[in-house]
Amino acid sequence: MIERVSADYLIIGSGIAGLRAAAELVEHGRVLVLTKSDRGAGSTGYAQGGIAAAVGDDDSPELHASDTLTAGDGLCDPRAVEMLVTDGPAYVRELIDWGALFDKAPDGHLDLAREGAHAVRRVLHARDATGREIARVLFARLKGHPAIRIVDHATAVQAITEDGTVRGVRFLDERGVLVEARAQATLLATGGAGQVFRETTNPAVATGDGVALAYLAGARVADLEFVQFHPTVLAVPGAPRYLLSEALRGEGARLLNADGDPFVYRYDPRGDLASRDRVSQAIVLESARTGGPVYLSLAHLPADFVRDRFPAIAEACRRVDLDIATDRLPVGPAAHYLMGGVVTDLEGRTSLPGLFAAGEAACTGVHGANRLASNSLLEGLVFGGRAGRAMRGWRGDAWPHAGTPIVEPAPEGPPLRPALEEHAIRDMMWRQAGVYRSREDLTAADTVLTTAAGEVLAQRGAGASLSTDAWRTVSLLTVAHLIVRAARRREESRGAHSRTDFPNRDDDRWKRRVEDVRSVK
Ligand code: FAD
Ligand code: SIN
Repeated sequence: MIERVSADYLIIGSGIAGLRAAAELVEHGRVLVLTKSDRGAGSTGYAQGGIAAAVGDDDSPELHASDTLTAGDGLCDPRAVEMLVTDGPAYVRELIDWGALFDKAPDGHLDLAREGAHAVRRVLHARDATGREIARVLFARLKGHPAIRIVDHATAVQAITEDGTVRGVRFLDERGVLVEARAQATLLATGGAGQVFRETTNPAVATGDGVALAYLAGARVADLEFVQFHPTVLAVPGAPRYLLSEALRGEGARLLNADGDPFVYRYDPRGDLASRDRVSQAIVLESARTGGPVYLSLAHLPADFVRDRFPAIAEACRRVDLDIATDRLPVGPAAHYLMGGVVTDLEGRTSLPGLFAAGEAACTGVHGANRLASNSLLEGLVFGGRAGRAMRGWRGDAWPHAGTPIVEPAPEGPPLRPALEEHAIRDMMWRQAGVYRSREDLTAADTVLTTAAGEVLAQRGAGASLSTDAWRTVSLLTVAHLIVRAARRREESRGAHSRTDFPNRDDDRWKRRVEDVRSVK
């Protein structure tokens, strides 16, 4: 017999999107949050640069929208963008009312930072650890509330679907035991999928589980070819990758080639503060041209200012014997953000009744082909809140909490064994579906992934049981396959998707979303 828990509202993930949704729901019913590792393990706690919002005197929602649409390279949904930028300032002010301490200038005004492709300074930040500050405030807001229960080390692995409606999820608890969590509305707030690639800024939990789980349940997913590669990730051989925030360039840091010369302007007239896709491409091209590394340098800036403004990054550099203020810091691109995800409307509703999605796992259309810097935390906040409100209004049948026990047996088949190992998937994705892509590479990757994904489905169909590790590989494999399929189909270059065989943007054929859906019987 499968163990069972229930609530009115079920939230998968404890990052900014899940927590903001929870804040919307706790006064309206019992909220159960499942989170697959420690509750602070998602990308939110890692966010450095800040959260963008049109709160400055020289700024406006229209200007913020214009920058967002330009970065999105023709594929943003303008309605979603308008919602983000007009609602954004109020959501951010609410965070401040709840206790968020963003840095202030000496005159007491918010100290707004500049980042790539923003026309003005509009990024609120808490030094270089903005995500940690936001998470602190959201957890504090929910702490001790009698209606909320957060369960750590609970990994959602499958949607429970009855008559086409999602009634909750199955999850593996910390003992590795399969449990059913049922609720009248379920939110996927599982974050991104950077772990699909060998080089990534993302934490270990970012394996695209929400996208995989929704897709395997038959939900629509879209825009998965658009993976943002952050240009400046500390690339010291043998050391873990560590993000060097775009805010460094916002404060004047320069990208230099192996000869010590600035180079980005040769590839984009905006130079070091061009949009991320362009800077990542410039780094790859320049490294290929010179055959040498690329560096980020702050040596021309006042050392005290640099160390005070970026203390966490300075410490990370120190750990690999580099001085942020004086040394050249070797950098390269790494997978950072998934623009695509589970298709939602503006209230977070997916194509499956009862299932909602928000944050990086969702595809609201706000980012189009390339996300503007610091718009992700804002998206999690605004659309997490909106999804929470919509879940309250969801009129699906409520799950009878005091019902008969579920007698469905837990799968008892042999353990599922994915044919491809995680490192093989990540390595192949980096080499064949990274910053630059081609038909040849994508076709080869697709062949491998189609076979491996087919074997997984066959094993699951035969009742194979899942462990947390096996699910991790299944999720990576599923999302990798979706990315490759979408990238193969889109025969143009746009935003973060660069095809060497189709180097130009082709609006006639491709000014549209690539969607995928699995038909589930
Ligand atoms: P996350 O915060 O990633 O949370 C996802 C949650 O889901 C986690 O709790 C995870 O454990 C849980 N989860 C995942 N799978 C399962 C499962 N199967 N079952 C149960 N739980 C699950 N954006 C900005 O706007 N500004 C920045 O300055 C910025 N800096 C960044 C720096 C770094 C290093 C990184 C990695 C990202 C940065 N981003 C930034 C992006 C931004 O942080 C994320 O896109 C955003 O925090 C995502 O929020 P989320 O709530 O969607 O997901
Ligand atoms: C950064 O600080 O460079 C990351 C900001 C983001 O991902 O928006």
